[in-house]
Amino acid sequence: MKIKKIGQQTVYINSSEDMSGVKESSVNLFVTSPPYWNLKDYGNANQIGDSSYDEYLDRMSKVWAECYRVAADGAVLVINVNDRRNKGKFIPISFDIVSRMKDWEFWDHVIWYIPNALPQPNHYIERLLDNKYESCLVFIKGGSKAYKFNKVRVPQKYAVADPRAEKKNPKGRCVGNIIRIPAYRPPNIKEMGYHVAAYPEELAAFFIETYTDEGDVVLDPFLGSGTTLKVSQCMKRNGIGFEINEDFVPLIEKRINEYWELPDWKSLDILHSATMTTGNKAPRKAQFADKKKDKDQVNMDLDD
Ligand SMILES: C[S@@+](CC[C@H](N)C(=O)[O-])C[C@H]1O[C@@H](n2cnc3c(N)ncnc32)[C@H](O)[C@@H]1O
Repeated sequence: MKIKKIGQQTVYINSSEDMSGVKESSVNLFVTSPPYWNLKDYGNANQIGDSSYDEYLDRMSKVWAECYRVAADGAVLVINVNDRRNKGKFIPISFDIVSRMKDWEFWDHVIWYIPNALPQPNHYIERLLDNKYESCLVFIKGGSKAYKFNKVRVPQKYAVADPRAEKKNPKGRCVGNIIRIPAYRPPNIKEMGYHVAAYPEELAAFFIETYTDEGDVVLDPFLGSGTTLKVSQCMKRNGIGFEINEDFVPLIEKRINEYWELPDWKSLDILHSATMTTGNKAPRKAQFADKKKDKDQVNMDLDD
């Protein structure tokens, strides 16, 4: 098993079905996006995804079992997946992962909303709505609620206008379970030499911030271009990654050494970014109250 140490990060060039190099009960958080099924060639004969759907799920189950073995008490596992269509059929990968999961308890479902997701031609042909999100399935070890939970907060939107302002948490409002992160556009990926299926740094950062503290251990069993470890390095976590294709190592190294700054969480928050009319300072209730007043006035005018 080849191992490469880069800063605080350790990369194993090996299938994550075998994590014998990692100490039992030592990992606090797993964040990953597994290989696609039957869609992309990652350039290794032993890669997961290049088989029947059942074998694909079985091999991933082995990886989740290995994660469980090396997970500390109170560890969290986050799996980013996208359901898809294949030959006219809906393939509910997220549901199938959840229904086959052993030991890990399914705990939460966070939606990664992708405002700039490109329209899918096959969805158009099959009369389907365009897909604008991916799932992030959150599991906890053995149902242990001892996991860390540092809620990501943003400033209160209506702190000034709301009559109940004093009741609001001065630390800010919690970001909800739909997080908004634009996807990289394909030309960008090519220009920057990124991995074809890289997920955005912000996605990894959101979960690392929520479920770990500095110095904790974060593991990605399907490292790809190294996004999770790049963020782990910047956030001072000890990262471990497994990647089957050795050719990705120079890219992983380059990315771990790249500078990156934590995002302004407001940009991930759906309420801050998507639902307000610019310049509208009034809280919703007040708007309704005004409308009701107007309506009452109209009714009075009609009565006259
Ligand atoms: C969807 S990509 C991960 C992308 C990653 N999140 C990033 O930001 O670049 C899945 C990765 O899993 C790797 N892979 C496939 N089978 C594997 C296995 N058995 N063990 C470890 N890695 C594997 C593929 O080579 C591919 O790089």
